[in-house]
Amino acid sequence: MAQSKHEFIERNVGWMIILTVLTISVGGLVEIVPLFFQKSTTTPLNEVVKPYDPVSLYGRDVYIREGCYNCHSQMIRPFRAETERYGHYSVAGEFVYDHPFQWGSKRTGPDLHRVGGRYSDEWHRVHLNNPRDVVPESNMPAFPWLNRPADASDIEDKMRALNKVGLHKYSDEEIAGAKAALEGKTEMDAVIAYLQGLGLALQNVQ
Ligand code: HEC
Repeated sequence: MAQSKHEFIERNVGWMIILTVLTISVGGLVEIVPLFFQKSTTTPLNEVVKPYDPVSLYGRDVYIREGCYNCHSQMIRPFRAETERYGHYSVAGEFVYDHPFQWGSKRTGPDLHRVGGRYSDEWHRVHLNNPRDVVPESNMPAFPWLNRPADASDIEDKMRALNKVGLHKYSDEEIAGAKAALEGKTEMDAVIAYLQGLGLALQNVQ
């Protein structure tokens, strides 16, 4: 009996590998490449979504350095249990200035995408110094060392680096003003500024 084409592929592992890789590559490209050009993923959702100012940008880097993302996601899924707890589900147009994004995949603590404005700056200060002072059953670690002054020495370089990969191009003026913006600020001030700006774009929308 003559061998069918199907049988030929199944019996020749080399061809099988080549054709499988080809199929997956084409399928992947068709799904992924359009996302780089789609308006909903490349333009800010609304005028509330703004590029990070130097203080929030610094705070964001502290958030990454301290590994907050290991316990906190920033991605509210479109399920009722999530939207009732956290607010409107996250949409792509809210993350256009995030490099790298902080969606995370682990929730030891709650999702933080819409935490902006939920608490006062003072609440965050007490909470970061010792979470158990405001949430007695909390197992979040304390971050008292964030009370040290922010180190502004490389903020200009960070902004220039973002200019290479990011959607927003910081102007020379913005970059020149960055060190002054961080003057007198602690690392904790910066993290709080970052947290207070999270998720405002769809804050009061259900
Ligand atoms: C080991 C896991 C862990 C790490 C690391 C962690 N957290 Fe938490 N976080 C929690 C838990 C658990 C809670 C819930 C209890 C509480 O409010 O303290 C929480 C709560 C919070 C809340 C309140 C959220 C809400 O909606 O009530 C904020 C804000 C927060 N964390 C910020 C941070 C920041 C900023 C960092 C990094 C500097 C951080 N967390 C690191 C576990 C963690």
